[in-house]
Amino acid sequence: MLVKKVILPVAGLGTRFLPATKSTPKEMLPVVNKPLIQYAVEEASKAGIEEFIFITHHTKTSIKEHFEENSGLYSKLIEDGKKDLAETIKSIGGEGAKFTYVEQAEPKGLGHAIGCAKDCIDENEWFFVILPDDLIMTKELNVTEQMIATAKSESKQVLALQRIDDDEISKYGVISPISTEGKLSKLNSIVEKPDYADAPSNLASIGRYLFNQTIFDHIDYENPGKNGEIQITDAILSDVKNFVGYEFDGMRFDCGSKAGYIKANIEFGLADDELHDELKSFIEEKKNL
Ligand code: G1P
Repeated sequence: MLVKKVILPVAGLGTRFLPATKSTPKEMLPVVNKPLIQYAVEEASKAGIEEFIFITHHTKTSIKEHFEENSGLYSKLIEDGKKDLAETIKSIGGEGAKFTYVEQAEPKGLGHAIGCAKDCIDENEWFFVILPDDLIMTKELNVTEQMIATAKSESKQVLALQRIDDDEISKYGVISPISTEGKLSKLNSIVEKPDYADAPSNLASIGRYLFNQTIFDHIDYENPGKNGEIQITDAILSDVKNFVGYEFDGMRFDCGSKAGYIKANIEFGLADDELHDELKSFIEEKKNL
């Protein structure tokens, strides 16, 4: 099974981060010194993905610009002897990476966004989806790599799962497992954003999906689901026997929320050798607040 393409839905308005997102796409907000979208591209690239398909809105030009060469800046940094900095802006996504942009004119839901990439995926091709809001810090294998390995061993499409607290569960797609063994769950069903009382488990689907091209046949454009949107959860439900859920190893930050975004900056900041000591003493100073 080869997985060479990733779909990155980035057309959303990012209203939770206004006014910061008035003219800057939320995916361009930095965690430490790197925009969120670059973490997603680097995660996929490390897992062997070569084509990055952005489902975007024409106003979000800075995402495209970020992945284009900036030879003027590159040469200037080299000229100034700043080779390390120059390397940080070169070949993001790997040598030969292909960037494709597909317009989603209206936000009609995640299922609709993914469906916009239908013509980019070949018959029976496997592909990955990353929601850049879900930033995941891992040790060795990143989540994309873990899920590709799972799909290979199980010969099924894969959903990333995380156990979520009761008061947060209604923000997610939630699975009803037939069985759970270790990190793997066989699925009985999945429901989008249930009320807590109706949630079939505490296992939520997180923003990583490994699909086969057949998923496009299950996206129902005529019958919107929860909140009037075309939900990917409903497409998954209609083919649920061909999926497994996988509880990944890693620490996830919901960078679609302000608190999650700030926590990500703290955690990634602490992981940065240059920032670690200063941040740590600042946090210690604040401990008794
Ligand atoms: C989307 C999906 C939901 C999933 C979540 C993960 O919701 O619809 O099933 O649990 O991403 O982050 P959104 O957060 O876009 O509302």
